[in-house]
Amino acid sequence: MQISEKTILVSGASSGLGAACVKWMIGLGARVIGIDRTPPSSELVALPTEKYWHGQADVTDEQSVRDVIEQGTARFGNPSGVIACAGVLHGERLLGRDGPASLEAFRRVIDINVCGTFNIVRLAAETMAKGEATQPDGERGVIVMTSSIAAFDGQIGQAAYAASKGAVAAMTLPLARELGRFGIRVVSIAPGVFETPMMQAASEKVRQPLLEASVFPKRFGYPEEFAATVQQILENPMLNGTVLRLDAGLRM
Ligand SMILES: NC(=O)c1ccc[n+]([C@@H]2O[C@H](COP(=O)([O-])OP(=O)(O)OC[C@H]3O[C@@H](n4cnc5c(N)ncnc54)[C@H](O)[C@@H]3O)[C@@H](O)[C@H]2O)c1
Repeated sequence: MQISEKTILVSGASSGLGAACVKWMIGLGARVIGIDRTPPSSELVALPTEKYWHGQADVTDEQSVRDVIEQGTARFGNPSGVIACAGVLHGERLLGRDGPASLEAFRRVIDINVCGTFNIVRLAAETMAKGEATQPDGERGVIVMTSSIAAFDGQIGQAAYAASKGAVAAMTLPLARELGRFGIRVVSIAPGVFETPMMQAASEKVRQPLLEASVFPKRFGYPEEFAATVQQILENPMLNGTVLRLDAGLRM
């Protein structure tokens, strides 16, 4: 897919990896519909209105996501790309000092990270499938979902988060298989640790061992490196149905 002049939908647009993708895609000439439960940051507000439109919505809410996609599409046209970044981190031991882990917290993480991603993907795919093919081989669009290396090597306390990101990884292939006949590819990225507000909130006790376990480079990723990987996925038609680790060799 050629990104210039296309419409791209980004969830989790207000912060971190999502915000980096918004700026990266606009830099490549795309128009971006952003979805986040929080209002746009001042950086997003400063973007040209003919390039960025922000819809405030919770990704788990059917109607509000539908409304944002409808309004965004009316403004910028059918999306050719979806970058699903909205998600939450959660750490809690199964057997903590105050008793067993909270079932409510587990459900919330699954609801946002799995059901929220699924909700964005299903509603955007419906719109995408109705669009015209934009490439000679019949490609209509590309969906990029955000898993995590916790899907494969989750740490103690990450049962909920690992389960949610494992689910995102696991749905990648069946979605790609189903949407192939519409010319839509589906790929997930499993990031290691990236410098975003989510990870900046973690304590040094959590961050330091992760830094040490990184093979090379011994630093956390920059959000722009995530956005550059998304660019490659959007542009390279042979990437489909797979989960790409982006982690500097880190095994947690
Ligand atoms: N930063 C990392 O190291 C890292 C590593 C692996 C995976 N990830 C994943 O990448 C994605 C982006 O993470 P980030 O680091 O940019 O985090 P972040 O906290 O900086 O940004 C996440 C964004 O998602 C939004 N969001 C959360 N729940 C939402 C909801 N219910 N509805 C709408 N918006 C919602 C937040 O408001 C926020 O703007 C997440 O799915 C995260 O799990 C991040």
